[in-house]
Amino acid sequence: MSKAIYPGSFDPVTFGHQDIIERSSAVFDELIVGVLNNSTKNSLFSVDERVSMLKELTKNFKNVTVDSFDGLLVDYMKESGATIIVRGLRAVTDFEYELQIAQTNHVEYPKAETIFFTTNLKFSYLSSSVVREFAAYGGDISKFVPKQFVDRVYEKFNIKK
Ligand code: PNS
Repeated sequence: MSKAIYPGSFDPVTFGHQDIIERSSAVFDELIVGVLNNSTKNSLFSVDERVSMLKELTKNFKNVTVDSFDGLLVDYMKESGATIIVRGLRAVTDFEYELQIAQTNHVEYPKAETIFFTTNLKFSYLSSSVVREFAAYGGDISKFVPKQFVDRVYEKFNIKK
């Protein structure tokens, strides 16, 4: 049984995340989408809101669960039994940071293997921070974020569309 975790901030979830969830859930027996509960980071959505959006998004995927975690990813992996870390690589600029985290996690927990998915070309420019920036100024985010969440993002900036 392969049990993978796709960790991230998902603030908010984008089509890029959705694509990685769909593709990785087809590769591994079980996939946990793990939302980092990072109290030091000023997030747009609370952890509960992010977990609830991801649950809505993945409700038809039988082998996908959504959870949140505090602290180190490797500690959560030991608790949950996941041994594979899924990450998406958009461009070469992601690589250095991702390589460092993957290697550190492997040293800390040798059972942890990171597997990278190359993001779909359609979404390779996309990031949650760009979505937040666009939304803050009333830009059109409907090409970035699943339809059911678009208004929820605008609401955070008190923008009515
Ligand atoms: O979506 P993000 O913000 O790029 O995700 C980053 C994330 C959550 C994968 C990473 O920050 C993480 O795993 N944080 C948990 C704390 C941890 O284990 N840090 C050690 C990594 S060297």
